[in-house]
Amino acid sequence: MADSDIKYGLAGVMTDDTAVSKVMPETNSLTYRGYAVQDLAEHCRFEEVAYLIWNGELPTQGKLDEFIAQEKADRGLSDDLIAVMRKFPEGAHPMATLRTAVSFLGLEADIEGDHATDRLYERSISLYAKLPQIVAVDYRLRNGLEPIAPDPDLGFSENFFHMCFGKVPAPEVVKCFDVSMTLYAEHSFNASTFTARVIASSLSGIYSAVTGAIGSLKGPLHGGANEAVMHMLKEVGTAENARAWMLDALATKKKIMGFGHRVYRSGDSRVPTMTQAYKAMVDIIGTDEAKMYWDMSRILDETMVAQKGIYPNLDFPAGPSYYLMGFEIPMFTPIFVMSRITGWTAHIMEQLADNKLIRPLSNYTGPAQREVVPIGQR
Ligand code: COA
Repeated sequence: MADSDIKYGLAGVMTDDTAVSKVMPETNSLTYRGYAVQDLAEHCRFEEVAYLIWNGELPTQGKLDEFIAQEKADRGLSDDLIAVMRKFPEGAHPMATLRTAVSFLGLEADIEGDHATDRLYERSISLYAKLPQIVAVDYRLRNGLEPIAPDPDLGFSENFFHMCFGKVPAPEVVKCFDVSMTLYAEHSFNASTFTARVIASSLSGIYSAVTGAIGSLKGPLHGGANEAVMHMLKEVGTAENARAWMLDALATKKKIMGFGHRVYRSGDSRVPTMTQAYKAMVDIIGTDEAKMYWDMSRILDETMVAQKGIYPNLDFPAGPSYYLMGFEIPMFTPIFVMSRITGWTAHIMEQLADNKLIRPLSNYTGPAQREVVPIGQR
């Protein structure tokens, strides 16, 4: 096989059909089940978007009420899981603890081999309901605090703040979080979704597929970028320093976290909506720190676009937004998982509805075939 036939990183390779979402780089747009993400973020709560991603249609009020009731009923972790989480090694990254906790849920659910669509849907909602509590419990335990139980009177996003901090912030802050959940929910065959589909295609099971997807999302070239963005902003330090920092970073050929995208080449469709929510939140928070990060973000963005023509991706406004909401930096990618679980599981169900084992070819470049020399004669 000629090198030119190999699509390194599977770049540009179309591997299957999907009806879940459509990424349109030529117009910088993204739709979930035919609806533009900007429209969804403006008019719908994340619960409606989750329902849409799984069911293909937006819910009526009655269907939404049923769906929310099911999510609330599925909240709650077993005492065993919380006991295991108390034993996690100090300093373990929250994405690693989340990966282990989801794998543990798989042990408890005991349906790894059950691929019936209704069972997969039930398990998808169960994961969506439980993941926020895993993230919140992990945060509290690592800070020497006791877990806070979910509040059945609170919606998905409000309840997450409650389980982390024991209170719910201003509506603009909750809205910014909810918008981020909608924008992170689904993005076609990205690395973690493809990982989930590959694992599902061997009929391994939904918990294995989600555990693998978490492992994939953890990397800084994928979901981990929202954390890397915040580390970068902290390194930049002040808004005044931002332009000089960026020029120096580009001169020394640094990869600038939160910029660039494999598919979008002239802007990420989700960025304007997230940036608007970030700004509304900064205005409500009103602290010097919040304004400084906003100014810094703008300067870095303008400098990068002017110098390299490379645009920010969703992680660029999401990172500082989560930081200003009070979340610790290593929680940012687990928060992404709380949203992307909807897209991953929709893809797992789609894969299994018409399954074909995913198994590409490779171009062998090792030694030519040779004979084994017995150990004493080598
Ligand atoms: N900072 C600096 N230069 C960048 C860049 C960035 N964030 N993203 C792309 N480039 C440059 C590359 O250096 C390369 O330049 P060259 O041709 O002179 O070598 C060119 O743009 C193409 O980049 P490449 O890495 O080949 O594109 P890709 O499609 O493989 O990579 C990403 C896409 C997302 C992996 C890449 O843009 C990146 O690493 N971004 C930072 C991490 C990030 O934010 N990830 C979240 C993605 S949603």
